Amino acid sequence: MVIFATRLECETSNVSPPAVKVNCEEYHLAALLLMVHSPRSAAYGRTTRSPKGLCRNMHMKLIKQVQELFENSYGTLNHLAGVRHFFSPARINLIGEHIDYCGGLVFPTTVQFGTIIIAQPNGLGTIRVVSINEPGKVEFDPAGALQRSTPGHWGDYVKGVFVEYGKINVDLPGLDVAVGGDIPGGGLSSSASLEVGIAVLIETFTGYSSSDDSFANRQALSWLAQRAENEFVGVNCGIMDQGAIALGKENHAMLMDCSDLSINYCAVELGDYSLLIVNSCKQRRLDESAYNERCEEVALALSILQPVFGIGTLCELPIDLVNDALDCIDDPILCKRVRHVVSEHDRVSQAASRLSNGDVEGFGKLLNASHRSLQHDYEVTGHELDTLIGLSQQQPGVLGARMMGAGFGGCGLVLIRSSNIEQFAKVVGAAYRAEIGYDAEFYPVEIGPGAQEIMSANDE
Ligand code: GLA
Repeated sequence: MVIFATRLECETSNVSPPAVKVNCEEYHLAALLLMVHSPRSAAYGRTTRSPKGLCRNMHMKLIKQVQELFENSYGTLNHLAGVRHFFSPARINLIGEHIDYCGGLVFPTTVQFGTIIIAQPNGLGTIRVVSINEPGKVEFDPAGALQRSTPGHWGDYVKGVFVEYGKINVDLPGLDVAVGGDIPGGGLSSSASLEVGIAVLIETFTGYSSSDDSFANRQALSWLAQRAENEFVGVNCGIMDQGAIALGKENHAMLMDCSDLSINYCAVELGDYSLLIVNSCKQRRLDESAYNERCEEVALALSILQPVFGIGTLCELPIDLVNDALDCIDDPILCKRVRHVVSEHDRVSQAASRLSNGDVEGFGKLLNASHRSLQHDYEVTGHELDTLIGLSQQQPGVLGARMMGAGFGGCGLVLIRSSNIEQFAKVVGAAYRAEIGYDAEFYPVEIGPGAQEIMSANDE
């Protein structure tokens, strides 16, 4: 049993509790469904970027490891040759699981873990990439016709992004690249972290920008990175992960409308409570999972409901019409999928509302309800995650817990009183090992900024 990393230090309100509070900028429940772009763009441009130096200091150990790999693979890092460093975070999702590809609202944030990427022009016209996490070197001509490797190969997440910039005629230089990540387990989107990091790198080296508005540019970058995963890697993921990582903001969660990637930034103030990542350490790969199968099921359900209810996405179906909708569908499996999507979408709005009112207990209950729905209706959990989340929900100081991300293994999220974390890790760690046969891991969450350059030749 291990507790890792830093303690969560959230901005706490000096005004007396609610213990957990989320203040949403310009947030009103009614406005949720009528999101407008401009105020959010302004908020993003104003405060998203944290000072490069801060981000650099947080990741110094990982940076050194990646620098070492770079030098062992390509020779000395050369500031005159224009070496640049980037950090692209992982994301967690507070609530709103498996509904981004149904046009729903989700509630992710970016965290302290992520991917460091170092790149330097090589004058060769080719892209060469090495990783501290995976063996081998990936080498390709960005102007050539690129082929997918074996399913799930890490290099395809990189190649896919180059392919997408090639399609919009961005002139891609030859680069030597080294990457390294410290993202624990599955469910925190290491793949989108890599994709978005590579996209930021390409835009930085080429000077390409799709818009003068920095928020709009990052939206476009997110959609491009998603296309890389959909079309090159072959996973039909939604926009949540790429959007969160490209648009993340320190100490804020993002109430994100996946139908148009508009975002309300919500300052997360946790008082006596913390968010804890629990890693089941059960391996899974998205392309091997039933992820694409779920996407097909909800697309089929939509094709049945669309003509009856006149909806464009499943998340447009109001919760009070869900029983009428289920009456239109014969297949009991499809009924369960629809019930999850519509109820989970409703929980996201409720969660944002409860947090903004300081109703921490109510928020915790929604996390538990979300897990139940993902377990029984969407069926994306599995024995390891159910064991870990079930144990977590029973512990003192825990207000709620649920699986996170695609599921089938990977990580969960626990809302817990900070003073209970140590005891929680001891008890849950021992019980999980006794049931599953190997250790779980525990990481207090720190909410960090989105993907950004952290060091360039000019900083030296
Ligand atoms: C993965 C996908 C996301 C989202 C989540 C589930 O992380 O990449 O688009 O669908 O699963 O919420």
